[in-house]
Amino acid sequence: MSTALTWDRVWLGGHLATLAAGREGYGEILNGALAARRGKIAWVGPEGDLPGRPEDLAKEVLDLQGRWLTPGLVDCHTHMVFAGDRSGEFEARLRGATYEEIARGGGGIRTTMRATREASEDDLFREASRRLVALQTEGVTTVEVKSGYGMETGTELRMLRAARRLARDHPVRVQTTFLGAHVLPPEFEGRREAYLDLIREEMIPQVVKEGLADAVDAFCDEIAFTPEECRSVLLAGREAGLATRLHADQLSDQGGAALAARLGARSADHLERTSPEGVAAMASAGTVAVLLPGAFYFLKEDHPPPVSRFREAGVPMAVATDMNPGSSPLNSILTAMNLSCLLMGLTPEEALRGVTVHGARALGLHQVLGSLEKGKMADLAIWEVGHPRELSYWMGRNPCVGVVKDGEPTPS
Ligand code: NIG
Ligand code: FE
Repeated sequence: MSTALTWDRVWLGGHLATLAAGREGYGEILNGALAARRGKIAWVGPEGDLPGRPEDLAKEVLDLQGRWLTPGLVDCHTHMVFAGDRSGEFEARLRGATYEEIARGGGGIRTTMRATREASEDDLFREASRRLVALQTEGVTTVEVKSGYGMETGTELRMLRAARRLARDHPVRVQTTFLGAHVLPPEFEGRREAYLDLIREEMIPQVVKEGLADAVDAFCDEIAFTPEECRSVLLAGREAGLATRLHADQLSDQGGAALAARLGARSADHLERTSPEGVAAMASAGTVAVLLPGAFYFLKEDHPPPVSRFREAGVPMAVATDMNPGSSPLNSILTAMNLSCLLMGLTPEEALRGVTVHGARALGLHQVLGSLEKGKMADLAIWEVGHPRELSYWMGRNPCVGVVKDGEPTPS
């Protein structure tokens, strides 16, 4: 039978970590092959089961030379669009100041707000591009980017435009999240309701009108917004058609996880202080737990999120960098995986699921991304490793040797 050149490309001569539904462990296929057609995965299986000679099946045959192929990685929680840095606050923290003290003193997120308000869209785009490229070299093909350092309409929009532009100028998928409710901007001190009105009545409608965001998020904490305030922002976003997420229970247990679950949020993120009730609520609502070990490490937290409870309750756990200048200046998804294992107790397999299938789920993209399965987008990463657990094992070494987006190898 001739199926002449059915596929655009086929990869063979290596091994696949498919992470496919219903497969145990990494969903390994040793000596596997994967074919792409029109940007999607057209075939995946053992090389010996290919329905013909590879050169008769695909326009291009690529030899993996014994390497491993995984889904392209998903960094589902970043604040990578920002200006300036907070290395001065880092030094202050090393001298004994806490993250909360710095925030209450007008620094922290407000320090980055001042720098970001000064920056042009081009500046923001350029700086974020460098951060993005660093992630791409580690196999990342999808990132989420939040606003939240403007806290005024113009800057919030500018941040989101810069984020959207990343997807136009780089081979990457970008999902954007509006985080106007990050902290109260200083000009609204003592007028919290007025700022919340601005978010609900001006920012969200504008963001939605311009198609600049896919989701809405809020920071639920003592130094940020109360559960009731976050609820009203998320509801306004939801009514305007945005998906919802929540920075929950990071520095204190505010019942954020349960709130996210009640609102049908895609994810609750951080979760260091989430109670057993919060875990149960997330489990029944199907909320993804996004673990951010970079922030846990950088803030020298001693209270890890309740990973065993999430595991027992069947809550999907995603892992992300939280890339931001204050609590997680972490520009490496592989390091996030390593930290999630050592500081939070994930297995290397869970860490890889966290940056593939479950990361995709936190973005609502699990039907089309996150595993090597027929019909999903052909976003892939190629690794010079003997086993996929090595992605969580090496520190400061990047074994990624190739990235493919929409079935096309991307220039390295
Ligand atoms: O995810 N928790 C709130 N927001 C960020 C921190 C932002 C900052 O400190 O600049 C986070 O950790
Ligand atoms: Fe964050």
